[in-house]
Amino acid sequence: MSGMDVLVVGSGGREHAIAIGLAQSKSVSSIHCLPGNAGTSFIAKNHDISLSNLDAVVNLAEELEISLVVVGPEVPLVDGLADKLRDKSIPCFGPNSEGAMLEGSKLHAKQVMSDLGIPTGRFEVLERTSRIEDIFESFKPPWVIKRDVLAGGKGVIVTSSKPDARSAIKSWIALDGFVIIEEHLAGEEASVLVILDESGYVVLPASQDHKRVGNYDAGPNTGGMGAYAPAPIVTSSVLSRVKEQIIEPMHNHIMKWDFPYRGCLYLGLMIDEEGSPSVVEFNVRLGDPEAQVTIPLIDSDFGILLRSAAEGRISEIDVTFKKMYSSTVVLASEGYPGETILNRPIIGWDSRVDEGQISGFTHIAGASIDKEGQLISSGGRVLSTTGVAPTLEGALSASYQIIEGIELQGSHYRSDIGFRALS
Ligand code: AMP
Ligand code: GLY
Repeated sequence: MSGMDVLVVGSGGREHAIAIGLAQSKSVSSIHCLPGNAGTSFIAKNHDISLSNLDAVVNLAEELEISLVVVGPEVPLVDGLADKLRDKSIPCFGPNSEGAMLEGSKLHAKQVMSDLGIPTGRFEVLERTSRIEDIFESFKPPWVIKRDVLAGGKGVIVTSSKPDARSAIKSWIALDGFVIIEEHLAGEEASVLVILDESGYVVLPASQDHKRVGNYDAGPNTGGMGAYAPAPIVTSSVLSRVKEQIIEPMHNHIMKWDFPYRGCLYLGLMIDEEGSPSVVEFNVRLGDPEAQVTIPLIDSDFGILLRSAAEGRISEIDVTFKKMYSSTVVLASEGYPGETILNRPIIGWDSRVDEGQISGFTHIAGASIDKEGQLISSGGRVLSTTGVAPTLEGALSASYQIIEGIELQGSHYRSDIGFRALS
């Protein structure tokens, strides 16, 4: 049997990680990326088509007789890319637009959780600025204020300052007509990625992102500055509760839809001191940078895993994981997450670690190749250095060995990735 021709949609570090996972799969014979990035150009054919033109994406998949489309980011899913592909009978890893609303609307996700009795923070919708002072009475600080739009992590503030809370509420009500106020959840965050379809689900090793820009979680939120897996906060007893209280009810719910959810459901969790999990958010895709540390731990054929979910046959396969740890450390451009300075040359990104069971390599995100063949920065998160080893310490040492050798003027990275697991 000839292998699959797979199209990966997206252009970040997550999509590079997906493409590497597919390149290592026996079931895959060719990989195409749309638009891809400098990293994917070494292992796949990149196609320079805009993600906003969904019909062009479908046309390319038809032209290339693609066996599987893997959608990386959330926006094309919310916009209906999976629906359009399925209309043409092209298997797609990623939910239809209805399923994608679990990420597209935080209010919708909250309502689903409330209907199903899934643990999550209490919330209220606020439409009138005249009621702001009531909120300070009914919710304890810090106040969690969210816009109900896809804002790439920028539509949430968590603050104990009343003036900051007032100003966010006022400006977001002016923009959107309402904001969501959420109970603040205390504890440690973890990400659990679940690959699922109507036939079953596979829970990938839990990971932990580092969302703030500075060491020990100082400074503003970012898209994610590093991650590691497996995250020890998700013990087997925590995982049993996550399955029983969150995954099982969501799976039962999803099985009843006209068109079932086929893809990844990302559980953004808060685990409290007693080990009780609550949902902070759902995402409808693999996390970035969580994918970079999760995919390398999958032992089974990654292409078969994604294809089985896309075809509603996940219960037919066995998926096994490596008994290893992984870590990734993000190198960000000067100024990130504020105004960033781009188009600077990057030196030393292609060094690797290969010492027995310890390996290390680079996932490319916001970087492109210029006319002279030089890698240059083109985004806030430029790349991340990933280590895989029998211990977390070994994985981190590979990540840091590579990143310390990379030259990019003005760039910065966190030097404390994994600190919660190591302490
Ligand atoms: P979200 O986009 O909903 O994931 O929120 C971004 C980040 O804000 C989360 O990763 C948390 O660090 C923080 N956050 C959001 N909601 C809450 C909450 N209810 N309690 C505590 N922290 C939260
Ligand atoms: N790492 C956070 C996210 O993918 O949303």
